[in-house]
Amino acid sequence: MAVLAEDVNLAGYTTLRLGGPARRFIEATTEADVVAAVRKADDGGEPILVLGGGSNLVVSDDGFPGTVVHVGTRGTERVAVEGDRVLVRVQAGEDWDAFAARCVTDGLAGVECLSGIPGRVGATPIQNVGAYGQDVSETIVEVRAYDRRARACVTLDRDACRFTYRHSVFKGSDRYVVLDVTYALHEAEESQPVAYAELARKLGVQPGDRVTLKEARDAVLELRRGKGMVLDASDPDTRSAGSFFTNPILDPGMLSELERRVADRLGLDAAFPRYPETGDRVKTSAAWLIDRAGFAKGHALGPARISTKHTLALTNPGGAGTADLLALAREVRDGVRDAFGVELVNEPVLVGVTL
Ligand code: EPU
Repeated sequence: MAVLAEDVNLAGYTTLRLGGPARRFIEATTEADVVAAVRKADDGGEPILVLGGGSNLVVSDDGFPGTVVHVGTRGTERVAVEGDRVLVRVQAGEDWDAFAARCVTDGLAGVECLSGIPGRVGATPIQNVGAYGQDVSETIVEVRAYDRRARACVTLDRDACRFTYRHSVFKGSDRYVVLDVTYALHEAEESQPVAYAELARKLGVQPGDRVTLKEARDAVLELRRGKGMVLDASDPDTRSAGSFFTNPILDPGMLSELERRVADRLGLDAAFPRYPETGDRVKTSAAWLIDRAGFAKGHALGPARISTKHTLALTNPGGAGTADLLALAREVRDGVRDAFGVELVNEPVLVGVTL
């Protein structure tokens, strides 16, 4: 049964602990509840906010003037086994890290490097969640969603999801409400080849080597904890939405402009992080740009603060409002633009506010 409440404070449902009241709040624990709640709101012309774990959301201090549908559907099932390939369908409301942990214990490889990420399963296709050399576009085979335009449940295969770096057909659009996600995992004792240099160093192996699933998970959890990226009520650095900005992807023109600015500002020998992307494009590091633009770890503006462990996480260590966090985000974005000519783009979804 969906439970309806009024004037629920959203701060209690976001990892940033920010956000004002929702006019209506529905706790939906079955797929039928989710669909019915969305249909009803659509029929009444009422705005909808679909809420999962609240770990990638920045909600206005004024709250949300519509219906929040909190997706709490549960269930994980093996839907097919093809050789060592196991298809697992997971309901949107399942906790992501509980699923990632279970895969490791059950000997299923494919998401072990995505350990320790807060939030729920339904959010993972939306921004193509990724970390430490894996992203979910490598394992997702299909997503079932409620299509608000067609007013029907639909299935999108991997191509239809149009996954790119931290993006998909689901991001920046209100059209689909994710209902469940099917992942193709491999029965294996060992992890996928370690693809992230920092993770390989932590494990004491070469990139491309394999380790046990548990070793991969434990090393990722340790790295993430060191960066304040694992939720921990006793660590104010974890009151964040993870990375606040995406890593900029530069075309050759933008890249040579950045090279020029870095040389001007930091000297001719200065090098910045470069990761090859498709075509002739290059991804650089937002954290590096923020640091070098003069915003150190722990930099504060009013009550909002850059994490003391990673410059890419903006935090509410306690006492900040959404307006304070956004003021800090604008200061950082503008500072990086002035220093390096690169426009940082927010990664979390902004609700009722703009940057
Ligand atoms: N760096 C700094 N200062 C810092 C931290 C990092 O200069 O305080 C520089 C270093 O040069 C470092 C580089 O930034 O080598 C990259 O840092 P890191 O490996 O921590 O990765 P990231 O690019 O900052 C991305 C994801 C994270 C993910 C990690 C690990 C994005 C926007 N963020 O962060 O995802 O956990 O890689 O794979 O792509 C998230 O999306 O919320 C998230 C936490």
